[in-house]
Amino acid sequence: MNKASLVVLISGSGSNLQAIIEAINSKQLNAEIKAVISNQVSAKGLDHAASEGITTHVIDHKLYPSRALFDQAMMQIIDPLKPDLVILAGFMRILGDEFIAHYQHRLINIHPSLLPKYKGLNTHQKAIDNKDQIHGASVHYVGHELDSGPVVIQTEVPVQTIDSAETLAARVLIEEHKIYPMAIKMHIDGRIKFKGKQLQLDDQALTKPLLWKNDQLT
Ligand code: GRF
Repeated sequence: MNKASLVVLISGSGSNLQAIIEAINSKQLNAEIKAVISNQVSAKGLDHAASEGITTHVIDHKLYPSRALFDQAMMQIIDPLKPDLVILAGFMRILGDEFIAHYQHRLINIHPSLLPKYKGLNTHQKAIDNKDQIHGASVHYVGHELDSGPVVIQTEVPVQTIDSAETLAARVLIEEHKIYPMAIKMHIDGRIKFKGKQLQLDDQALTKPLLWKNDQLT
């Protein structure tokens, strides 16, 4: 089977990117990362990608007068690569409607909360402030509203009474690194797809997200 083509967008440390690269290197994913794009020149993930021989691009959003022009600059790099999936991995810019519509059903994100809870920033602190016992992360196809769109997999992480936002984030991140490659694999293997607006797994409607818990997917 042909390798799937991936493009990964990052803004920072790129630990999820690293998990995806490891999944490719260990042959869990039959895929090739055609490019990594960062809006931040200092993103650590760029160095890691380059050290793996992956083409990297910096598109600094501050150099563009509008969101639409920034998005178009990214599309000009992405489209010739014909990606099967565009992966947001710690990409910290809101994308415009045109970009989202252009990559509909092949644009995926990981968000550090149990969506629809805690869209936006500071999700770990919000879970602690609300005295949640269970927190987590979600992989979802990108919809037009912030942190919206059908969720494929979630992971649950218990909150401990002594947790700070940092300790909780660190434990959630470990699980993110497991569920993101899983969701990507389901997409590129054709197990997850859209029928109209409905998300399907193995040709059956996925009425609720898959759950990764205690090292098992249910
Ligand atoms: C992760 O929690 C991710 O879910 C969020 O940004 C954080 C950093 O990700 N969107 P990474 O280490 O840059 O992959």
